[in-house]
Amino acid sequence: MSGLSRLAVLGAGHVGPVIARLAIKAGYPVAIATSGDPEDIALITELVIPGAQPRWASDAVAEADIVVLAIPLHRFLDVDPALLNGKLVVDAMNYWPVSDGALEPFEDGGSSEVVAGRLAGSAVVKALNHIGYHELEDRARPAGAPDRRAAGVAGDDPAAVATIAGLVDRIGYEPVRLESLRAGRVLQPGGPVFGVVLTRPEFERAVREDARSLA
Ligand SMILES: NC(=O)c1ccc[n+]([C@@H]2O[C@H](COP(=O)([O-])OP(=O)(O)OC[C@H]3O[C@@H](n4cnc5c(N)ncnc54)[C@H](OP(=O)(O)O)[C@@H]3O)[C@@H](O)[C@H]2O)c1
Repeated sequence: MSGLSRLAVLGAGHVGPVIARLAIKAGYPVAIATSGDPEDIALITELVIPGAQPRWASDAVAEADIVVLAIPLHRFLDVDPALLNGKLVVDAMNYWPVSDGALEPFEDGGSSEVVAGRLAGSAVVKALNHIGYHELEDRARPAGAPDRRAAGVAGDDPAAVATIAGLVDRIGYEPVRLESLRAGRVLQPGGPVFGVVLTRPEFERAVREDARSLA
């Protein structure tokens, strides 16, 4: 037993497997699920995410301390909030109208604030959404590495943010804490750190200089 929190990663597309692999490497027990039968991803999981357990989403979540949402935002709208009740939820999703279609609830403001509003019984932390899946793995470095990069962690619950900052640190990034989900808007598409992989000073400067961080 690693003693680390148990993770459920919902989503086995581009980014879910990368997050799962990084977490396994860091010592976390990890289950991964799609919306369907875990048998369908058993072989690919064994090959691509060795060590991860393919599960039904409900089973993975029930046994998890931390649930990572790595599913398209339009699919999230079909998720029953009761499934995630009482869980610490990492929102790694982005509103991407080109693939999500226009989603009225997400047209203005912060997507994670909308997610948190729907998941009233969960602690929602925005993280791992702003680095592309291919880079997320390539750029991960242990603490102290000179070329270690930063990753934002935003939330309204300081204890939840601290836990996810620990996860981000262990999987290979300097966690930069943002004091609210609202402040986490800087992490979303169009924001100053979305899609760029920055050192901590670069990241903090970009966030500081962004007018939204002052709003
Ligand atoms: N791609 C990236 O580089 C990247 C990086 C950071 C964040 N993100 C964000 O992460 C989210 C996912 O992106 P992606 O590119 O990984 O998507 P993707 O390749 O389309 O994969 C989506 C995965 O979610 C699963 N899924 C859908 N509904 C589900 C549900 N209710 N429960 C469990 N699993 C479900 C799908 O499987 P089934 O359809 O079989 O259920 C599929 O495995 C998006 O919001 C994206 O903006 C992406």
